[in-house]
Amino acid sequence: MDKDAPKRAARRRFLRAAGSAAAALAGGPALAGNLKNLPPNVPEWTRALGDGVAVRPYGKPSKHEAHVVRRDVQWLTASRESSVSFTPLHELDGIITPNGLCFERHHGGIAEIDPEDYRLIVHGLVERELIFTLADLKRFPRVNRIHFLECAANSGMEWRGAQLNGCQYTHGMVHCVEYTGVPLRVLLAEAGVKPNAKWLLAEGADSAAMSRSIPLAKAMDDCLVAYRMNGEMLRPEQGYPARLVVPGWEGNVWVKWLRRLKLGDEPWFAREETSKYTDLMADGKARQFTFVMDAKSVITSPSPQAPLRQKGFTVISGLAWSGRGKITRVDVSLDGGKNWREAKIDGLVLDKACVRFYAETEWTGGEMLLQSRAIDETGYVQPTKSELRKIRGVNSIYHNNGIQTWLVKPNGEVENVEVS
Ligand code: MTE
Ligand code: CO
Repeated sequence: MDKDAPKRAARRRFLRAAGSAAAALAGGPALAGNLKNLPPNVPEWTRALGDGVAVRPYGKPSKHEAHVVRRDVQWLTASRESSVSFTPLHELDGIITPNGLCFERHHGGIAEIDPEDYRLIVHGLVERELIFTLADLKRFPRVNRIHFLECAANSGMEWRGAQLNGCQYTHGMVHCVEYTGVPLRVLLAEAGVKPNAKWLLAEGADSAAMSRSIPLAKAMDDCLVAYRMNGEMLRPEQGYPARLVVPGWEGNVWVKWLRRLKLGDEPWFAREETSKYTDLMADGKARQFTFVMDAKSVITSPSPQAPLRQKGFTVISGLAWSGRGKITRVDVSLDGGKNWREAKIDGLVLDKACVRFYAETEWTGGEMLLQSRAIDETGYVQPTKSELRKIRGVNSIYHNNGIQTWLVKPNGEVENVEVS
């Protein structure tokens, strides 16, 4: 008798069982790929030695993940120096955005700063004007905080109806990383804030000299001057070597390449808080200083760039965040908002940070209108787009946190649509 026969039979039984489990899970045969590499064969990559250590001194993702990249929309902006690239949200899970995939938004290109020459000045209504080097900043007591950063213009193209086909483009001006830095209040205390100071001007060292006025109360509350993201030093495009972190507030006030903090008794009415980053309301009046990013969520998978490939058990997944605190609940609808079910939040639930949610369903191949709505600890419920338009009209660009709808078609393709 062939002494391997029982083993082979056992293996066949295992394969049948695995096959039926995979089929039950996936709704179809799950086998694909190069047969000679599939079990029970010994695959190519087991037959030869692999690369040794330090062949990649700074690690990169697998070459098979080369499609997981930031992308831009060429017609959106006139030049690359004042433009935006979007986070590939549909390719990510969990809440932390890898540094190399964080969306970038700059108004005058990336400032290349030699850390030896970096300086941060604190002046205006202070007891002592101070100039810090990067080494000085690193000597202060430091903290680690995970926060989302959302550009006020995120979803801005969608005010008049469904536009861009992919959550990367509709919602990809958001990222969530762990920052390491000095609480701003510690630096301000070092300079001694004068009693009549009420506002702070933060200015960047880029060619746009991005400047924003921030109320002193926020500066003293939870802002940081951060120099690290996800453990390593900030990336040049994220403000190397230091940026302002303004938790929960619109991305524009998170000044990168931070060079100047000036204390004053009123706002400066800089370009980015007058001609831009104001909200044109239905009556033609513009609302100013809309700092807080209200609760928002989006289903990242399935979504137009991540279609459904198989019927059967399906995990719907997405991100939710609120500038007013913690997310307490996320609901998911499969029928365009008629019925809602509570999604599972898995992982960390932190103040002014993204949460990851999941909703599981059996997809039978029917049409679905997928929506998610976020609820935060203040009780605020993410509005529908029509509710939002009743208050805001359609002339706005910024602060669109309306509920997103994805149409899943019987063939699994997904499209950006609106339901009335
Ligand atoms: N800071 C400077 N100095 N220059 C800029 O152009 N862009 C702002 C803000 N800080 C900007 C800046 C805007 S509009 C946003 S949304 C965030 O940075 C984007 O941060 P990120 O590029 O790290 O995603
Ligand atoms: Co922005």
